[in-house]
Amino acid sequence: MPARSSAPGSAFLVGEHAVVYDEPALLLAVDRRATVAVEDADEDDLPDSAYVREAVERTRLYADETTPVRVEVSSDIPVGAGLGSSAAVSVATLHAVSRQFGAPMEPQEVADEAYAVERAVQGKASPADTYTSATGGYVVVDGDERRTVDAPDARFVVGYDGGSAPTGEMVDGVARLVDRNPVASDIVSAVGDLSHDAVESLESGDLEVVAALMDMNQGLLDALGVSSSSLSRMVWSARDAGASAKLTGAGGAGCVLAYPATDEAQEAVAETAKEAFVVSPAEGVRSE
Ligand code: MEV
Repeated sequence: MPARSSAPGSAFLVGEHAVVYDEPALLLAVDRRATVAVEDADEDDLPDSAYVREAVERTRLYADETTPVRVEVSSDIPVGAGLGSSAAVSVATLHAVSRQFGAPMEPQEVADEAYAVERAVQGKASPADTYTSATGGYVVVDGDERRTVDAPDARFVVGYDGGSAPTGEMVDGVARLVDRNPVASDIVSAVGDLSHDAVESLESGDLEVVAALMDMNQGLLDALGVSSSSLSRMVWSARDAGASAKLTGAGGAGCVLAYPATDEAQEAVAETAKEAFVVSPAEGVRSE
């Protein structure tokens, strides 16, 4: 019997990029999942994914185990599109392989190990996507603090333009801007201020304020150079239908998140997106 685990994708309500500079960010785990099946094998049979390979090696060290394994990954999370697809694959791999080795990791351990996997593969990274995928629900990441937030379930529209952009390159682009221009550094701090407000508003159940902050955050992400014409088109389709919207994740291409998830907003986003679907806060990593 293979050990099978799944982990959700994640979306930023506010705070991507700024979180790399230790500003706070607020995310939710979304109910699109990566599933990983692991079984013993005569020799390692791994998919061509640096995240999976690194996660298997880290689990070997963790469990003090050398048995070869076959690993299969399936996922309905768009890849490299701002929904934490690589984090979900890393998280599900660590969980499944550790169970297969008879040394199951707790979600907290999975979160720490998955963050190490992302840093090894991708260079500069925050623990935001990996922690959210491991624990599920709404999550605040603020420097060394990581915690889940108790808040009402809500539905959000995701618009996906069918494209992707390498996270590392987008993060490097912002770093170059911040190095060259003190205003960019002020923008990063302003995103942090927005995130503080968003966390307070979410905790008091005021999603209307969170939505207004999402709109402001999009303006600041645009100023940091990480939006694109297709992301902006989807954002404005949602806004024309009365919703608030912003890109999620590294930007460049990929996904936007809109609230509230009215039928009108979903239909409007679908007109400028390759695909539009509704998500709500999802359970973290789990055995299947
Ligand atoms: C990528 O999903 C989000 C970024 O903030 C990078 C990171 O947090 O590691 C752009």
